[in-house]
Amino acid sequence: KKVVLAYSGGLDTSAIVPWLKDNYGCEVVAFAADVGQGEEELEGLHDKAIASGASECHIVDLKEEFVREYIYPTVKTGAVYEGEYLLGTSMARPVIAKAQVEVARKVGADALSHGCTGKGNDQVRFEGAFAALAPDLKVIAPWREWDMVSREQLLAYLQEKNIPSTSSVRKIYSRDGNAWHISHEGGELEDPWQPPTDMVWTMTTAPELAPDKPQHVKLSFDKGELTHVDDEALSPYQALVKLNTIAGAHGVGRIDIVENRLVGMKSRGCYETPGGTVMMKAYKALETMVLDKASLKHREYLGLEFSHVMYDGRWFTPLCQSLLAGAQTLADKVTGDIVVKLYKGQASVVQRRSPNTLYSEDFATFGEDDVYDQSHAEGFIRLYSLSSRIAALKSQGKA
Ligand code: ARG
Ligand code: SIN
Repeated sequence: KKVVLAYSGGLDTSAIVPWLKDNYGCEVVAFAADVGQGEEELEGLHDKAIASGASECHIVDLKEEFVREYIYPTVKTGAVYEGEYLLGTSMARPVIAKAQVEVARKVGADALSHGCTGKGNDQVRFEGAFAALAPDLKVIAPWREWDMVSREQLLAYLQEKNIPSTSSVRKIYSRDGNAWHISHEGGELEDPWQPPTDMVWTMTTAPELAPDKPQHVKLSFDKGELTHVDDEALSPYQALVKLNTIAGAHGVGRIDIVENRLVGMKSRGCYETPGGTVMMKAYKALETMVLDKASLKHREYLGLEFSHVMYDGRWFTPLCQSLLAGAQTLADKVTGDIVVKLYKGQASVVQRRSPNTLYSEDFATFGEDDVYDQSHAEGFIRLYSLSSRIAALKSQGKA
């Protein structure tokens, strides 16, 4: 019997390794995904997994795949959950789960396991992906089975099993980071009246400490894909890394929200998405140049719908594929350059141009023009408002 565990090296998944061996009598293969969460989290992970009792540890580099095949397509839909959340954790789950299943196939495992609690969204996202990709594999969710509830208990359990741990009793926040964002939940943030302290934020400078001089950054898109940052050709992941550095230094991309979890309760979270915030802003600004009114309205609808598909763990579904295909059709027009000004936590679009632009100074000008006959507007408005006219005449007894 063999189980592949999505392992992070944190206290929870470190305790899950011996717990699986004890309770299921199985061999535990650790699996960790590199989705751009940073060196510190991955350093020494292999040895740590083995020291916890795993038989093997597979660390898979998913950085480019994550940005190219999950983030970019999501950006093209314009998805923003409940008007604020840029879906950083949600987008990482399907790519991680898919790679975990691949490891399970490679080592011939019978089961998959993860360290998500029974109260959150992540369990649904992981297991939704497992169901679609590996319905034959058993799923073990220790948090829903064991009776340990505190860090003290997890640490005592590790001590009892003689497993070394550098975790401490005090760990304030539950964090989840990747190339797109980092989330912070728990600790004093569980009280929505408590403002986040400086301890919370890790990816961005406080806006009040950001440089006094604004910085301009140019983003170039080709058919909806970000290809250049400040005229430097970059891979999707590299482009995001560069944007994170630039935008993070100016304190851009912090939000503090209360959101509806899929499982019913509300939760309060702080998120930092510096590069993503700039990219999303630039993308949407470029869309305003190239999409007509009806197309843009449809894209807004796609974004709303897709935000729930993504948040709710429905990546591996026909609905998801259909929405992504629709978004790509509109994205095919999204080519051009946008300049964003970064200053003290703000990102504002100040320049835009596109070979596909529908914006025409000739038509839009308030000055003299010879392409638009204002008298045509009268007939348009008469027909456009005809139903109102008929109803009003009727109520006056004149029709
Ligand atoms: N509430 C966010 C979401 O559902 C962030 C979840 C963070 N997950 C974590 N394991 N700390 O997407
Ligand atoms: C968890 O409960 O495992 C993290 C938070 C979430 O999934 O929403």
